[in-house]
Amino acid sequence: MSDHDQVKMTKMNYDVNRPKAENPLKVMDLSLRDGHQSLFATRGRTEDMIPVAELMDQVGFWAVETWGGATFDTMHRFLNEDPWERIRTLKRYFKKTPFSMLLRAQNLVGYRNYADDVANAFMDRACENGMDVFRTFDALNDYRNFQTVVPKIKEYGKHFQGCICYTMTEPRLGGDVYNLDYYVNKAKELEAMGADSVCVKDMAGLIAPYDAYAIVKALKAAVKVPIHLHSHFTSGMSPMSHLKAIEAGVDIIDTCMTPYAYRTSHAAIEPLIMALLGTNRDTGFDIKLMAQINEIFEKEVMPKYKHLLDDSKMSIIDINVLLHQTPGGMLSNLVNQLRDMDALDKIGEVYKELPRVRKELGQIPLVTPTSQIVGIQTVNNVLFDTPEERYKMITGQVKDLCYGLYGKTAVPIDPEVQKKALKGYDRGEEPITCRPAEVLEPEMEKAKAEIGDLAVDLDDLVTYAMFPVTGKKFLQWKYGKEEVPESVKPITMQQVKKLDELIKKAKAGELVEKKKDAPAKGENLRTFNVFVDNEYFEVGVDEVGGSPILKYAQQIQLSGGLPAAAPAAPAAAPAAAPAAAPAAAPEKKAAAAPAAAADTSGTPLTAPMPGMIVKYDKKVGDEVSVGETVVILEAMKMENALSAPASGTVKAINYASGDSVAKGDVLCVIG
Ligand code: CO
Repeated sequence: MSDHDQVKMTKMNYDVNRPKAENPLKVMDLSLRDGHQSLFATRGRTEDMIPVAELMDQVGFWAVETWGGATFDTMHRFLNEDPWERIRTLKRYFKKTPFSMLLRAQNLVGYRNYADDVANAFMDRACENGMDVFRTFDALNDYRNFQTVVPKIKEYGKHFQGCICYTMTEPRLGGDVYNLDYYVNKAKELEAMGADSVCVKDMAGLIAPYDAYAIVKALKAAVKVPIHLHSHFTSGMSPMSHLKAIEAGVDIIDTCMTPYAYRTSHAAIEPLIMALLGTNRDTGFDIKLMAQINEIFEKEVMPKYKHLLDDSKMSIIDINVLLHQTPGGMLSNLVNQLRDMDALDKIGEVYKELPRVRKELGQIPLVTPTSQIVGIQTVNNVLFDTPEERYKMITGQVKDLCYGLYGKTAVPIDPEVQKKALKGYDRGEEPITCRPAEVLEPEMEKAKAEIGDLAVDLDDLVTYAMFPVTGKKFLQWKYGKEEVPESVKPITMQQVKKLDELIKKAKAGELVEKKKDAPAKGENLRTFNVFVDNEYFEVGVDEVGGSPILKYAQQIQLSGGLPAAAPAAPAAAPAAAPAAAPAAAPEKKAAAAPAAAADTSGTPLTAPMPGMIVKYDKKVGDEVSVGETVVILEAMKMENALSAPASGTVKAINYASGDSVAKGDVLCVIG
């Protein structure tokens, strides 16, 4: 394995005008998509990409990833930004570098397979709005799920990059399922479908350097199109794997600008530039230009995001990934979910149950959405199963998977689990074997009828078709039909500075005094969670006449670990005695619970986990029998069908579609 004949020193010239290398390594930058998706919960705003856009366009990247993955969901849901508009805006600044997006094949940018008419409409709009490279993957590596989107990519003359999701069942490449032959065969399949390049998509940072070498060598020998390696840093191996892949002749590598690099994101570009300088794989990039871009990021952009960074640990490497071979993002989701349920002590059981659930569900790769599907089902099993009965609470997505709606699994699903999941499943109890979208009814006409005039153009309609609940909410904000909540508005540098001052004061114990002459809360009040060592403060900042005034600071003692610093979480301040001056304490947002039923006698159906109401299947006055689905609750992006705890009449329904609920909230009463 000492074979590094692919990387030879050819010259020693540090000048930016140095002669071009024989076979320069091509690089795709991920800062503006996967970078902030990995580190900052996908909260990057378009306005914070513009300051670096023109400089990044000068670097010479093969492409910049600017869209797709979770950006579409996050933008319209949490940032009040029109996802389509981002492409058009950034295109004005990136004049020559192609745009790449992460396309979840028939899942598009959502979490389920959409009907062909939605996929076609989405692809038309993505192509016409300016996407160039379509990095396409299917969570099951079932390429029948490419059959609708690929012809569209070709029709518009765009670049089809076919992905193979990298996954393992052993600590290293090998075993019965995901071995070298598997990857070679998948690459051949992609080339036969017309792939313009093939990407090994290592979303969890699992690929070890010598395995990367072996795979790239094998793929280069098996197919003609360029080979691209996408490997997250999570486990700490990716810079080594990059180098071995380069030695094996990989054509394109993914990196991030330094502020968006490492941790669960990707290796940084700058060390790679230096490592290859003067070799036959020299990138040709100007490292000084990189420094210039980084300076803008550091000074003008990162201060607005650093509060989102999970810095609860010193280590930037997640050794759990090496121990459990599961994606880092999935692990942090599991931890958050357990924390929400006050069950963090069960994490050990979750690690133990996870490989078992994965195997029973067909040994599927762990990538969005399958990582969530397996992860959440595992947590459900650990929390709700009894010694007599496993799979007591099966998520809607696991039912869909068992039915075949996601595609063909690598090995067959455990027949008993499948049978249990499909009992009473509304599409039928017999699983399908065809391409999943073939059983999906067209959705666009129905969506159009539902949303009506609120969707002004096709972009709006596609947004709604993919995300009916949050998409509708976004369109109401967009067209001024509903007030835009403070929580989705951008944070200004001024607010950031004020927060930094508050943290200093909190540390010095000066926050309480300020509260004495607190003025009345204004309309611009925004709530922030401020974390100081093992305490956190809920802080209200009210920007009056441009200058924020401290309104209240409520110190909250933490029982366990720090709450997730995710702004997405509804500011559900843990029940705690408001410190000192009660007058200055925040009024609890009386959660949108409508008068909680006059007649409360009966059996309540409570939320087993925090989440958002998707819909009620029943209305007040309906008869239900025990076990019948009453409400669909979305938690961690999975839909959970909650069934009637008793037979009777629905006496009260306490929430509506789109409402957020906490664990234990009474969703309805049956009497
Ligand atoms: Co990624």
